[in-house]
Amino acid sequence: MSSKTIIEAKNITKQFDGKIALSSLSFSIKQGELVALIGPSGAGKTTLLNSIAALVPLHSGELIIDNLPLTKYKKGKLFSKKIGVIRQQFDLIGPLAVIHNVLAGKLSEWGLFKSLFSLLVPQEKEIAIKALQRVGLEDKLLEITATLSGGEQQRVAMARLLVQNPEIILADEPVASLDPARADDVLTMLTKIVTEEKQTLIASLHSVEYARKYFTRIISLKNGKLFFDLPTEQVTDELLTELYQLKELV
Ligand SMILES: Nc1ncnc2c1ncn2[C@@H]1O[C@H](COP(=O)(O)OP(=O)(O)OP(=O)(O)O)[C@@H](O)[C@H]1O
Ligand SMILES: [Mg+2]
Repeated sequence: MSSKTIIEAKNITKQFDGKIALSSLSFSIKQGELVALIGPSGAGKTTLLNSIAALVPLHSGELIIDNLPLTKYKKGKLFSKKIGVIRQQFDLIGPLAVIHNVLAGKLSEWGLFKSLFSLLVPQEKEIAIKALQRVGLEDKLLEITATLSGGEQQRVAMARLLVQNPEIILADEPVASLDPARADDVLTMLTKIVTEEKQTLIASLHSVEYARKYFTRIISLKNGKLFFDLPTEQVTDELLTELYQLKELV
């Protein structure tokens, strides 16, 4: 399979007030990969995902997204077709009906006027229905989003992502607030959609078990550095013990 490289990190470094959050990281990710990002709290997982999403600027180094430096992308339609983000808190607007949150996936494509208008007269309702069918929530179209369970809300967030249809999906602890059954549900659905759509997924996780079960490659960070970057089947229990050890080995 000759898939193209979709993300390339070249020596990326990020500091916050002089404190290193990412230290000279280099890796490349091919289209279609399912990558779990693991590591202890404070390792730099969120910072790395936010850097790829162009939410935080790098201190040095370069990120190349689909052959173009990230800094060359303008925020807007093109970028939203490239990268989509899914978060632990789902980022949904609770008081709105599910359909409006799903159609918010079109926000950058439609522009503000059409998106605001769609709050009154839902545009392209069919798109929303199709996306909701794929996450098994078609019967919730008109329900108020805040009344849904955590797992259902995460599925609404996935339907929104289906509508946005970006090439790369970045998920920061997408199942952290869900009970194990819902978490399995959400990860099964997310990885299925990503595979069907030939998208690329990078998800940070606190659960090694989920990383092993659903992802083909595991990148681990420790103190802002790459600790290991391996196909899932090569990740041993010894490596994981070392990764999560509180004290750094000298
Ligand atoms: N906005 C910020 N201002 C200052 N320091 C920050 C900021 N964001 C992150 N950091 C620091 O950068 C380091 C990496 O944080 P980051 O949030 O990326 O870790 P993480 O791996 O996502 O941790 P967790 O598993 O707890 O979510 C930490 O030392 C953190 O304190
Ligand atoms: Mg984090």
